[in-house]
Amino acid sequence: MKYYHNHDFTYKKLYADNLQLQKFLFQEAENFDFQTMEENLNSVGKFVKDILHMSMFVDIKNILIVGCGTGDLAFWLASRGFNVLGIDVSIRAIEIANQRLLSLPFRKRINFLNMDVTLLSIDNKFDLIIDDHCLHCLVDNTDRALYYQKVREHLKPNAHLMIETIFHEDNFIPPENFILDDGLILWQKTNNENDSYFNKVMYRESYYIPVRKLIKSYDFEQEILKFDLKLIYFVFRSDLRVQLQTTSCSLQDPLQIPAQTQSPAVVRAIASRCNHNL
Ligand SMILES: C[S@@+](CC[C@H](N)C(=O)[O-])C[C@H]1O[C@@H](n2cnc3c(N)ncnc32)[C@H](O)[C@@H]1O
Repeated sequence: MKYYHNHDFTYKKLYADNLQLQKFLFQEAENFDFQTMEENLNSVGKFVKDILHMSMFVDIKNILIVGCGTGDLAFWLASRGFNVLGIDVSIRAIEIANQRLLSLPFRKRINFLNMDVTLLSIDNKFDLIIDDHCLHCLVDNTDRALYYQKVREHLKPNAHLMIETIFHEDNFIPPENFILDDGLILWQKTNNENDSYFNKVMYRESYYIPVRKLIKSYDFEQEILKFDLKLIYFVFRSDLRVQLQTTSCSLQDPLQIPAQTQSPAVVRAIASRCNHNL
């Protein structure tokens, strides 16, 4: 198991209570309304919503979402007529996404697959690939290289990859229970002493697991170019801060971050394939 499989533990914990989940699914089936769905989109969803009307996106039919979680963005896109495949490394997240899907009128346009993006192999190419906050979960350079390689292989010529990822600002102070190492990897304290997975390390008598990569914006730009992608949009959003606690990866208790602590801001990029070596 690799460090990013820790997300499955988080989803298992968040949705441990099956009764609670059933109640939620029932309510969703009874009162599903697109307005609420749209309001609840995370910042990646809002980014997608803002740009989908642009001319370069008019012919889009098939979309791949990487790190789809429990499916919100996939549902919204399918409700707008797109065919969507959502992948996620967490078995539990995909189970929940599939359960939610059952009651939805546009379910025929959606598929979910439990898949690791670094091993992505689908007999299909896409008009658009959306990273729904997955890339910053890959802290290891080899995994990131595989990510770009696999994603690129699944883009049609002239298709686009959209990424929103957290970046490193010089004044960033890690919240309580997190440490930032010299390679800008954010580690989170875990209370689970028996667990041997996830590249756990001991630091000052506590165990930590790697949870996020906070890349420098310049390095992010270079990384995209290195993998034979062409940058067509790149913007900082210091006003947007990804809340670390909502995707907490603690193996026992999700660690709460005090409200006054700073979460990292995001950079948004859109890249397309360079077509010289298709
Ligand atoms: C920060 S969470 C975002 C989840 C969801 N998109 C949302 O906004 O609620 C990152 C997601 O990426 C998934 N993920 C992490 N590493 C992955 C990998 N190697 N392959 C596929 N999905 C991965 C996690 O399981 C998790 O669902």
